[in-house]
Amino acid sequence: MEEFEICGGHKLYGEVRIDAAKNAVLPIIAGSILCDGQVNILNVPNLIDVQKMADILRQMGAKVDFVEDVLSIDNSTINKCELPYDLAHDIRSSIFMLGPMLAKFKTAVVPYPGGCDIGARPIDLHLAGLKALSVLVREEGGLLFCDGSHMKSGVVHLDFASVGATENILMASVLLKGTTTIYNAAKEPEIVDLASFINRMGGKVRGAGTSVIKITGVRHLKGLDYVCIPDRIEAGTLLLASAVAGGKITLKNAKAEHIFSLIVKMRELGCQITFDCDNIYVQNSFRLMSIPRVDTQPYPGFPTDLQAPLMAFLATARGVSIVTENLFENRFSHAYELNKMGAKILIKGRSAVIDGVDELIGSEVIAKDLRAGAGLTIASLGARGKTKVKGVEYIDRGYAKLENKLAKLGADIIRKQT
Ligand code: UD1
Repeated sequence: MEEFEICGGHKLYGEVRIDAAKNAVLPIIAGSILCDGQVNILNVPNLIDVQKMADILRQMGAKVDFVEDVLSIDNSTINKCELPYDLAHDIRSSIFMLGPMLAKFKTAVVPYPGGCDIGARPIDLHLAGLKALSVLVREEGGLLFCDGSHMKSGVVHLDFASVGATENILMASVLLKGTTTIYNAAKEPEIVDLASFINRMGGKVRGAGTSVIKITGVRHLKGLDYVCIPDRIEAGTLLLASAVAGGKITLKNAKAEHIFSLIVKMRELGCQITFDCDNIYVQNSFRLMSIPRVDTQPYPGFPTDLQAPLMAFLATARGVSIVTENLFENRFSHAYELNKMGAKILIKGRSAVIDGVDELIGSEVIAKDLRAGAGLTIASLGARGKTKVKGVEYIDRGYAKLENKLAKLGADIIRKQT
C-alpha cells in the first residue's frame, strides 16, 4: 500500500504538462478493436486503468506494447470474444469493449463492469441501445452473453445522455450497413475525440459533440497513429490546486474551452486566469471567495469529476457554498475526510453545504475513490502541517504520478510505502 505525505503551505510556481485524457484514451483503446491495422496511441499516461485495458486485450489474444508513452495495439490476433472476468470486473471501462466486439466479431461475453464505488452505475442504457440495434442479450451467472449476428443499423434514443452508453453504441454501429442515429447523445469532448479517432481510421461519424450523432457504416477501418485530447479533469484539478495553495502556474497542453464551467467561476471569484490555444495561465495570491452554488451536470455543465477537487478548494474559501451532485449518488466520501481536517461540510442527500474555514489542519485521511483522492491531495497543499493521504491506488487510476507534477510546481509531497 502507498500513501502521499504532504506538508502544506507551499505556493505553486512553474509549468506542468497535462496528459492525454483518461476518459478519451480508455474508449479509444477499446475502439482499436474495430480496426484492421495497427493502432498507435501516442502520449498515453501510465494509469492503472490503461494498463488493465491493455491486459484485457492481451488476454483476448491481441499484441499490445506500452513503451514510454506509446501504446501500440495489433488486434488482428484476437482469438477470444470473452473478456477475462477478474480484469474486466475490476474496471468500469471494460464495458467499452462490448460495442467494438459486437461490431467486429458479432459476439461478446462480458461481466458487469466494476470501478470506483461512487454509485450504482448500471449499464441498462448501454444494453437498451444495443438491443435497439438487434443485439440479443442474455444474462447468466453475472455474465452478459451478447449475440450480434442479426445486428442492423437503426435509431437509438437514450433516456439519459450517458457518456459510456453513447460511446458504446457509437462503436457498435461503425461497421454496420446503413446509418445509425443516436438521439440524446452525450456531448463530452471525449466523445468528439472518439469520433475523430474513428473518422481518422476511415469511419463516418457525424454530429459528435451535439445531441444527435449519425454513424454511417463502413466495411473496414485502417490503422493509424493518434494523439488524444488533453485531460480536462487533470487540468481542472491543477487549477483548483493553485487556488488552494496560491502562486502562479502554467498548464501546458490544456484546453480552456473544455473547462469553461470551472474557469468562468474561478474568474468571478477574482482568480486571474488567462489562456491561449494550448495553455492555461493562473495566478492567485489571496484567499478567494466561495462559489454560492454549484450543480454537477453533463457537459458543458460543471463536471462531476471535478466536484471533489472543487470541494477541497471551497473548504477554505470565504463564505458558504452549496454543491449538488446530480450524476452519482455516492460521491461525497471526501467530505467526511475533509471534515477530519477541520472543514465544516454538512451532507444533506445529494447536496453538501460547505462553510469555508480559515485553514485546514494536516491529518490522516483516506481516499475512497479516484476524484476524492485528488480532492484530498489538493486540500492538503493548503493545510497547516503534515497530511497523509491513504488510498493512493485510487488516484493512480486517473492521474499519472500526480505527486511528481505537484512537486515540480513546488509542493512538498512524497509517495511512501506503508
Ligand atoms: C463517464 C466518465 C466518468 C464521469 C462520467 C460522467 C469515462 C471512462 N468515465 O462515466 O469519469 O464521471 O462519465 O461525466 O468516460 N447511467 C445509467 N445507466 C447506464 C449508464 C449510466 O443509469 O446504462 C447513469 C449513471 O449511473 C450515472 C449517469 O448515468 O448516474 C451518468 O453516467 P455516464 O454518463 O454513463 O458515466 P460513465 O460513462 O460511467
